Amino acid sequence: MKSHFIALVFFLISSLAQGLNPKCATQDHGSNLQVFHVYSPCSPFKPSKQLSWEEDVLQTLAKDQARVKYLSSLVAKKSVVPIASGRQIVQSPTYIVRVNIGTPPQTMLMAMDTSSDAAWVPCTGCIGCSSTVFDYAKSTTFKTLGCQDAQCKQVPNPTCGGSACAFNMTYGGSTIAGNLSRDNITLATDPIPNYTFGCLQKTTGNSVPPQGLLGLGRGPLSLLSQSQNLYQSTFSYCLPSFRSLNFSGSLRLGPTGQPLRIKYTPLLKNPRKPSLYYVNLVAIRVGRKIVDIPPNALAFNPSTGAGTIIDSGTVFTRLVQPAYVAVRDEFRRRVRAANVTSLGGFDTCYSVPIVAPTITLMFSGMNVTLPQENLLIHSTAGGITCLAMASAPALNVIANMQQQNHRVLFDVPNSRVGFAREQCS
Ligand SMILES: *[C@@H]1O[C@H](CO)[C@@H](O)[C@H](O)[C@H]1NC(C)=O
Ligand SMILES: *[C@@H]1O[C@H](CO)[C@@H](O)[C@H](O)[C@H]1NC(C)=O
Ligand SMILES: *[C@@H]1O[C@H](CO)[C@@H](O)[C@H](O)[C@H]1NC(C)=O
Ligand SMILES: *[C@@H]1O[C@H](CO)[C@@H](O)[C@H](O)[C@H]1NC(C)=O
Ligand SMILES: *[C@@H]1O[C@H](CO)[C@@H](O)[C@H](O)[C@H]1NC(C)=O
Ligand SMILES: *[C@@H]1O[C@H](CO)[C@@H](O)[C@H](O)[C@H]1NC(C)=O
Ligand SMILES: *[C@@H]1O[C@H](CO)[C@@H](O)[C@H](O)[C@H]1NC(C)=O
Repeated sequence: MKSHFIALVFFLISSLAQGLNPKCATQDHGSNLQVFHVYSPCSPFKPSKQLSWEEDVLQTLAKDQARVKYLSSLVAKKSVVPIASGRQIVQSPTYIVRVNIGTPPQTMLMAMDTSSDAAWVPCTGCIGCSSTVFDYAKSTTFKTLGCQDAQCKQVPNPTCGGSACAFNMTYGGSTIAGNLSRDNITLATDPIPNYTFGCLQKTTGNSVPPQGLLGLGRGPLSLLSQSQNLYQSTFSYCLPSFRSLNFSGSLRLGPTGQPLRIKYTPLLKNPRKPSLYYVNLVAIRVGRKIVDIPPNALAFNPSTGAGTIIDSGTVFTRLVQPAYVAVRDEFRRRVRAANVTSLGGFDTCYSVPIVAPTITLMFSGMNVTLPQENLLIHSTAGGITCLAMASAPALNVIANMQQQNHRVLFDVPNSRVGFAREQCS
């Protein structure tokens, strides 16, 4: 008893000494992966320079802006190659999970992205990558795919100079190049043999998540397609609030253990962009009032790419101008009290404490009412509070701050997305 206690104390102290929260040491089990915010004490990607709250918000907004612009241009472009992994981005890999790659396993902290299909990791010798790389020479099961392999047809810009299936693509503000490869990976305790991913040899720019990307989109080269037998294209996550950095959320893969009581809305498919998770947002309520939004601001249109997507990589929800203005004006009217100021791209900020109305996203068949914690950001000093939404050029994006502390279930076989409140931080 006593020795257990001492062991526990020692464990706590040694964890603290490493700057780690005790929670970081716990292992992933079954088909459940812990999800960490990039600024979590468990993450090695915390900015080295401590930013002020305002600087941090402005930087996040700028990265978000780039991601949203890119997502919008993607869906609008008529010439987008219909296949897989192409021109995706993560401007801000907000949430990371542990993935074990190779034999023996090497652990990488990969960014989770629902709007991307591809998985890729920086490999030994990669020019422009961070210092943590996958050392493929140490894995006895690693294999570089050749041009004759069927999967080579699914990568963007394949080049077959040597025998390897080499590819390159743009990713946000970056370009990445590598060879299509295969190895066994393990997610929590689930082995996934012969997983096809990109082994990066070169990157430029700074949009590349330092230890790689785990795409959770639904295109042909995605994790969902490659683990079809195991996970049946079903997963859910609960994202921890970025205000409670000591907590981890969870990524639950496969149909087992998913919530039974959950509200659903149908998933829509845009043939031009098969990997994106489109849904039908039909109206928005501020408090009890349904605001007046022109129907075409929310309508799904596969030929222009307009509509609404659920995205794990964007931080703050974006609505196209007429929808955003309607929501914002009603929000301001309800808050009434004080003078409105702005902070970067946020135009509805207050320098006095406010009581905010809820905002309800009304999807077909499902209303999601967001409480204050999903709507407002507060400066650490308490000086300023902002409505954490902004306007977008062409596409409505339901972003991760508005999903925090909800279980979001992607049920691709039944073509639906579920939402339920769940306190995961
Ligand atoms: C790893 O992959 C190889 C083929 O690349 C396969 O034969 C082997 O069974 C796998 N090992 C494990 C432990 O899954
Ligand atoms: C990308 O691939 C194309 C061929 O598909 C090649 O012409 C181009 O030089 C490559 N770009 C980079 C940066 O490697
Ligand atoms: C990737 O491909 C290039 C050229 O095809 C080759 O020089 C390089 O050795 C390959 N790297 C790996 C890890 O297979
Ligand atoms: C993995 O690939 C190896 C050889 O490439 C093959 O022998 C094995 O059957 C494959 N395993 C699975 C589960 O596809
Ligand atoms: C996080 O955990 C550390 C160590 O366990 C503790 O010192 C710190 O106060 C915690 N922070 C929050 C916001 O709970
Ligand atoms: C609001 O702004 C007006 C004009 O700038 C100013 O006179 C007034 O004191 C402000 N009110 C508060 C509560 O800050
Ligand atoms: C959503 O809320 C509206 C009232 O604002 C109600 O009429 C509608 O039935 C609700 N939809 C669902 C699916 O509960």
